Amino acid sequence: MAKNRKVYVCRACGAQFPSWTGRCSACQEWASIGEVAVAEQRVAAPGRTGSTKPLASVDPDLALPFPVGFDEVDRVLGGGLTPGSATLLAGEPGIGKSTLTMQIALSVASAGASVILVTGEEAPTQVAARAARLGAIPSSLLVVDDVATDVIAAAMAETEPQLIIVDSIQTLRADAIDSAPGSVTQVKASAAQLIDAAKRHGISLLMIGHVTKEGSVAGPRVLEHMVDTVLTFDGDRHSELRFLRVTKHRFGPTSELGIFDMTAEGLAAVPDPSLRYLADRRSSMPGSVVVPFLVGRRPLLAELQTLVQPIQGRAGQSSVQGFDPKRQAMVAAVMATHAGYRLSSADIFVSVVGGAKLDEPAGDLGLAVALASALDGKPVPADVVVCGEIGLGGEVRSVPLITERLHESYRLGFRTAIVPRSAPDGPTGLRLLRAESLAEALNLVPPQLRSTG
Ligand code: TYD
Ligand code: MG
Repeated sequence: MAKNRKVYVCRACGAQFPSWTGRCSACQEWASIGEVAVAEQRVAAPGRTGSTKPLASVDPDLALPFPVGFDEVDRVLGGGLTPGSATLLAGEPGIGKSTLTMQIALSVASAGASVILVTGEEAPTQVAARAARLGAIPSSLLVVDDVATDVIAAAMAETEPQLIIVDSIQTLRADAIDSAPGSVTQVKASAAQLIDAAKRHGISLLMIGHVTKEGSVAGPRVLEHMVDTVLTFDGDRHSELRFLRVTKHRFGPTSELGIFDMTAEGLAAVPDPSLRYLADRRSSMPGSVVVPFLVGRRPLLAELQTLVQPIQGRAGQSSVQGFDPKRQAMVAAVMATHAGYRLSSADIFVSVVGGAKLDEPAGDLGLAVALASALDGKPVPADVVVCGEIGLGGEVRSVPLITERLHESYRLGFRTAIVPRSAPDGPTGLRLLRAESLAEALNLVPPQLRSTG
């Protein structure tokens, strides 16, 4: 590649241009375009060793994932981390990224493999204190107390560790790039240089990237296309539950979900999250319904609670947590049109308990049944689950993976399920009440539920 070629890169969105312009045509930002040194171009093509060889001479086993030894993480990754691959772990500050990666580092290092930690966020003393709290520190766990990518790449070449963890990518500085750490150009160039080194030496690279609620400018988004795997780590601020999801994965499934508890001893896998979600449930409460929902391909059960407060003299308002507000509005409109429930003169509160996110259409019917139960003040029997999508015509539509949802429901003690008419038989012992329409479903349970409000 030409040594002295110049490129112009937008600091806001990372778009590249062959010549300078005053406004980025990609993101419309003014005065955001700056000149970038050639070195970034050179490292922007990671994974090239430059040699030509027979494909048959390449050992495919070198790309097999190795387990990190933390079962819940390995399950999410489809076996573990792949040598020579780059993984981005994205999450909000304080959610537990440093804790999770430290546990991974301790686990891999305690099996004898060498691991490098790059501690841009915290001083090595703080990192050591955290590590000591989480377990014994193996001698093969190394720390690089520098944010210069040249220094880090040199350490990778010299040590050739099995794993290198960078905490965080926003603190790194690629010397060839003349812009502040954390800027889009700096984050991209730093990541490119480390990805390149990782591929050359068969090292697994795990980079932490902060995202902010506002969607930070140089956030992990700009790296998504550069890495092989993107993990996101999130959770509800008010609970200890944490979710590890794979949103991109070159080496395995993208639908896995890991669920953890943030404890005083670090993160611990939650073996049966549905039990956690349902733990404090009070049966016989009007407005509450249990819904089997999917996170990735994993069926979980959560309690959907609703409260309907009649009002006068103004339009009703909705307050919705853990459920898509647009779908909630649609469900309320369909209930009014096709089942005679007047919800417009009421304030509606919807909450999915435990910080779960029920963001799929399969939750529609559960919400309708919960709202009807709240309006009528009559509880839905405790052993009932409800699952189905509602169409604008008031019809109940089928949902994906219904069999898996029904088995999970039965396993957790539920014995009746209100489902779309097309639903296949579930486990023996689970009574299915099939409904073709919303009105029919609302008539099913309890029998006197429906009012003509
Ligand atoms: P941290 O991993 O530092 O978050 P991030 O790197 O994503 O910013 O951890 C966040 C919080 O977790 C912190 O407030 C302290 C708490 N914590 C525990 O509850 N238990 C633990 O064992 C550790 C190490 C941290
Ligand atoms: Mg941290």
